Amino acid sequence: MEKELESLITSLKSELKKCTKEADILNVKSKYVGKKSRIAEIMSSLKEMSVEDKRKYGSLINNTKKEMENIVIDSLESLESKTNIVFDDTIDYDVENGSLHPVTIVAKEVTDCLKKMGFTVVNGPEMESEYYNFEALNVPKDHPARDMQDTYYLDNGMLLRTQTSGNQIHAMEKYGAPLKVCSPGRVFRNEDLDANHENTFFQVEGMVIDKEISIENLLYVMQQILSEVMQCPITLRLRPGFFPFTEPSYEIDMECTICKGKGCATCKNSGWIEIVPGGMVHPNVLRAGGVDPEKYTGFAFGIGLTRLAMMKYKISDIRVLNSGDIRYLKNFDIK
Ligand code: DAH
Repeated sequence: MEKELESLITSLKSELKKCTKEADILNVKSKYVGKKSRIAEIMSSLKEMSVEDKRKYGSLINNTKKEMENIVIDSLESLESKTNIVFDDTIDYDVENGSLHPVTIVAKEVTDCLKKMGFTVVNGPEMESEYYNFEALNVPKDHPARDMQDTYYLDNGMLLRTQTSGNQIHAMEKYGAPLKVCSPGRVFRNEDLDANHENTFFQVEGMVIDKEISIENLLYVMQQILSEVMQCPITLRLRPGFFPFTEPSYEIDMECTICKGKGCATCKNSGWIEIVPGGMVHPNVLRAGGVDPEKYTGFAFGIGLTRLAMMKYKISDIRVLNSGDIRYLKNFDIK
């Protein structure tokens, strides 16, 4: 009797091991612990047993039945937990190749190009102090230029950086002059959202400090970067601009790659697209970074990476870029 009960448990376990579906386990359950199972037969034979055998085998038989039932329950539970992880049919198991986000691709192309020209890539904090985001960049408190960048001020006295330009100061403090750095990153502004405005977008800052640096150097660097990203030769136009951290300041426009300068909806019929603001680093900014403006000059620029990605991939609504909707990415031929 003991041997038979033992072998029932062993073969129940081995059959359950082979089960991959709930239905299989339930079949095994009815075979081993159901009404017509061997253990049910043994249970009912208890009645005919002598008092002595009943005493001897009663509890053993009962315990075996309970154990077999528990083994089945365990097996169902373990299948359920496996199913949740591996066979959850609410998950779409079609494996597809992903792709990089358009902004990530453009950021990489720009920084790769800058690296080839000897720039070091540095990172800066997204939570920034007013000092690095504004004051050190020659934008004192109450300066009207602060209005251009509607800022998220935080309860702890810091702010969400509105521009990557603060990394100019971090880099000068850390590395001194001469210097060739770029710094890609996310920036935040309290914008009303529409097809051209987002509260979160990406820029890359660039700065070169050395002796005898001129605006021609900036134009050359821009030409290289934009030609590489747009994969065609780019015509640039320089216009005067205003930024407190550069003097003189410029807006660099790129000839519209869509209409080749003829005028279209993308360039608002002007044939040009405002793409990079920049200029010669203001002496106050050099001083704030601990660099002597009598000895060194420099240029700086800030490329709107989100804007550039929109240009490159002809994306007409900026909001989709932060939507996290991967169906959208499939619309681009991005490898
Ligand atoms: N930080 C400026 C902005 O977000 C862009 C900019 C302008 C960056 C001029 C620069 C610069 O480095 O020199 O509007």
